[in-house]
Amino acid sequence: MPDALDRCLTAGPRVGLRPFTLDDAEEFTARAEESVALHRPWLFPPRTAEHYAAYAGALIEEPARAGFLVCERERAGALAGFLTVNNIVHGAFRSGALGYGAFAHAAGRGLMGEALGLLLAHAFGPMGLHRLEANIQPGNAPSRALVRRAGFRLEGFSPAMLLIDGAWRDHERWAITDPCG
Ligand SMILES: CC(C)(COP(=O)(O)OP(=O)(O)OC[C@H]1O[C@@H](n2cnc3c(N)ncnc32)[C@H](O)[C@@H]1OP(=O)(O)O)[C@@H](O)C(=O)NCCC(=O)NCCS
Repeated sequence: MPDALDRCLTAGPRVGLRPFTLDDAEEFTARAEESVALHRPWLFPPRTAEHYAAYAGALIEEPARAGFLVCERERAGALAGFLTVNNIVHGAFRSGALGYGAFAHAAGRGLMGEALGLLLAHAFGPMGLHRLEANIQPGNAPSRALVRRAGFRLEGFSPAMLLIDGAWRDHERWAITDPCG
């Protein structure tokens, strides 16, 4: 019998990561629709086929972006959430900016923590990065807790950093560098 996470690039005991595909539109947008109360006001992932095609298309095609779907082993690979790496810069920086969201049914179960651990190993391994940063609004306690548990450190505070939901929002800059060098 095939493993539920056979299509994943990397997998742990409960979840695996695989790249976004355009074929995931229906499941992704349905789970995003169910997760509006969890995601707002921090995150606005696509909830329509058209928005998904643009969002996933950019993650698939643009060299400065990468996106990974979090698939749950005990639910036959169903989507539990997603992680993105944006603003990827190589050269002497080798850095990227992290984004993520759980889907409502999967939140608060430790699945995103496991997924973030897998992403760090992938980013500092095959992706060749040295640093990942996560820019988080100070009031977003679950997000701060997630990155703190994963070993990120608080580097600083950036006023009016990102335009989210129509206003320039202050962010904390959390980051982690490759512990292996
Ligand atoms: C940020 C976000 C992805 C965190 O997801 P999460 O589900 O809380 O993260 P985890 O999967 O690591 O779950 C952690 C919780 O599960 C609990 N848990 C349950 N079983 C667990 C297990 N086996 N292992 C680890 N933790 C477990 C932990 O105790 C923790 O609970 P707590 O928050 O009460 O301390 C989620 O809250 C989210 O999608 N938020 C909206 C979008 C967002 O803010 N994105 C980031 C913008 S910067």
